[in-house]
Amino acid sequence: MTTLPHRTEDAGSGTVGPGRSAVPRPDERIARFIAEALGDARTVLNVGAGAGSYENAARAVTAVEPSESMRARRPVRLARAIDAVAEELPFADGEFDASMTLFSVHQWSDVRAGLREMRRVTRGPVAVLSCDPDLVREFWLYRYAPEVLDTEALRHPTVEELAASLGGNGTVRTVPIPLDCTDGFNEAYYGRPELLLDPAARQACSAWSFVDDGVRERFDRTLRRDLESGAWDEEFGHLRTRPTYEGSLVLVRATP
Ligand SMILES: C[S@@+](CC[C@H](N)C(=O)[O-])C[C@H]1O[C@@H](n2cnc3c(N)ncnc32)[C@H](O)[C@@H]1O
Repeated sequence: MTTLPHRTEDAGSGTVGPGRSAVPRPDERIARFIAEALGDARTVLNVGAGAGSYENAARAVTAVEPSESMRARRPVRLARAIDAVAEELPFADGEFDASMTLFSVHQWSDVRAGLREMRRVTRGPVAVLSCDPDLVREFWLYRYAPEVLDTEALRHPTVEELAASLGGNGTVRTVPIPLDCTDGFNEAYYGRPELLLDPAARQACSAWSFVDDGVRERFDRTLRRDLESGAWDEEFGHLRTRPTYEGSLVLVRATP
């Protein structure tokens, strides 16, 4: 069965067979975290909107998405996305109550310009959900696939850069990831390592598409070995029952 994971960006679509991990979908607890950051905003701009993950966290949404294939993946119940880039938003100053960009800034050609544009067109809070590159290597996956997390760390702007680009009154909050997180980024599997052995689960996280087959094969072989021998559980087994994980997922929020 060919499926369309909710966030495939440049990684292509995945194939999920019986007995494998479920297709990633937005997590309702993370959605609440985002909704809280948007406050009581009525009009919300979503930049790099992709297929529209977490748009339910907002109210009247205007979506911006430069990729034609991603725009085509948007369910019909969501607003059609406008073909534009963050760096040049086709909106007037202060047009939106709030704006958000989720899992997207690492792909922009000019993060500062894009965030300045979001600030310009937004009266209230701007919320950026991203990965803190200074924390990304602290995850146990670094033991098994350092190249993947090195890629993540190199691609993502620092939280200081995000906050400085937004200006105003900024806060940075670590997003608690639930043990049964339904989303599909690497840390969503912090307490369920077996699920990350599924190539379809890895495909939903684009950093895996930047490494070669040898890295994926070594990851698969060494993690399987450590799960079978009990070595993973000896060192990281406490994570199997930890209700939430505070890792590299952060929400940077700024008001003017
Ligand atoms: C990983 S996807 C995330 C999509 C969606 N926000 C989500 O959470 O599922 C990143 C998105 O950012 C978009 N993107 C890349 N460069 C962009 C830019 N300069 N301005 C706006 N969006 C961009 C990509 O086309 C892609 O759809």
